Amino acid sequence: MERRKFLENSCLVCLGIAVGGVSLSSCSNIKTINSFEKKGYLEVDKSEFIDSQTKEEYSNIIVTSNSLKKPLILFKTGTDNYEAVSLECTHKGVKLDLINDRLECSKHGSVFEKNGTVIKGPAKNNLKSYNVDKTLTIIKIKL
Ligand code: FES
Repeated sequence: MERRKFLENSCLVCLGIAVGGVSLSSCSNIKTINSFEKKGYLEVDKSEFIDSQTKEEYSNIIVTSNSLKKPLILFKTGTDNYEAVSLECTHKGVKLDLINDRLECSKHGSVFEKNGTVIKGPAKNNLKSYNVDKTLTIIKIKL
């Protein structure tokens, strides 16, 4: 139900597509995928950063999972570098939105850098960041 609510709130016109063990949806410029926990990691195929039709490259992907209270956002920060931070506001737990390269909370106005550093309150704590490992083809987000 959490994922369904998230998708309805963040992307009313998106269509879900089931692909293998991963379901995905995409909006105009933000892509959301669902991942399942495997041995303490969420796995995302690196190919998810490329639109299969337009070949456009995404700079970020939202990842949902039953293992997360709120989605996280996975940023591509270099040719093969990735960072992942929670989209759960550290003030009262509202889901954050990516606006102009910052993560903003619509509830009380907290703002965070993409790396999770709080730059405007009322939130006082940085966002949870996740260690990211990778193989040749897979990004592994440590829970
Ligand atoms: S819940 Fe995000 S600023 Fe209050």
